[in-house]
Amino acid sequence: MTAQIIDGKAIAQSIRTQLRKKVTARKEAGQRIPGLAVILVGADPASQVYVGSKRKACEEVGFISRSYDLETNCSEDELLGLIDNLNNDPTIDGILVQLPLPAHIEDSKVIERIRPDKDVDGFHPYNVGRLAQRIPVLRSCTPMGIMTLIKSTGIDTYGLDAVVVGASNIVGRPMTLELLLAGCTTTTCHRFTKNLEQKIRLADLVVVAVGKPGFIPGEWIKPGAIVIDVGINRLDNGNLVGDVQYEVAAQHASFITPVPGGVGPMTIASLLENTLYAAEQYHD
Ligand code: GUN
Repeated sequence: MTAQIIDGKAIAQSIRTQLRKKVTARKEAGQRIPGLAVILVGADPASQVYVGSKRKACEEVGFISRSYDLETNCSEDELLGLIDNLNNDPTIDGILVQLPLPAHIEDSKVIERIRPDKDVDGFHPYNVGRLAQRIPVLRSCTPMGIMTLIKSTGIDTYGLDAVVVGASNIVGRPMTLELLLAGCTTTTCHRFTKNLEQKIRLADLVVVAVGKPGFIPGEWIKPGAIVIDVGINRLDNGNLVGDVQYEVAAQHASFITPVPGGVGPMTIASLLENTLYAAEQYHD
């Protein structure tokens, strides 16, 4: 079997086109243009690239994009004060603080300071709790984008055995909740998991988010499984590869996401969808 490629780049592009049309319609109806504030603390090169892409995509769909670049040594209070101002700013529908933050700033304190109705990353305990209770509102962007990719395959997710590898707050944990909501029997694997190979070999759907190049051998993939690779790892030769050994996995899977051009563009598409959702559902 050779897997069909799930073209995240094309799916994300079509979402952005739809969003641009909706923004134009809002303008024509005299409605307010949605606004997204993106905050970067420090100068981590990978974060700079991600934030640059988010700001550019925001402008492309016609949203108002507000950028805040804070010094690495800025105080926690300075960042919290900026969030307070944006929380109270009626032109801003969404606030995103790029993670990771410098060690002297506590992630959870910052995330909890963002008003839940402006938490377009879907990281606030209120929004994660809503998802856990099957009443999602603003959903974490990468898992939300992955659910869009899985839906695009046309495969019914009810009853699938799903394995998520990685248990981070950004991807693994909300991913598990999304798959549970979609009717999967879901196993979350992490650094203490025993017999990972055995679990992967039984999975109908595998989502891998560990950030280690080629961590999952392609031979482990069950024939016909769906493979979603969240990893974006740069090798010494400059190539980008995922967490799954793509060439062999593609011989086993029914559907597989490429790296790059799979999950990556969907995170940004979901962020934009969430920003419009926040404007329409909470702030109009
Ligand atoms: N760092 C890595 N992924 C993300 C994301 O989706 N949102 C934010 N804010 N930071 C990240």
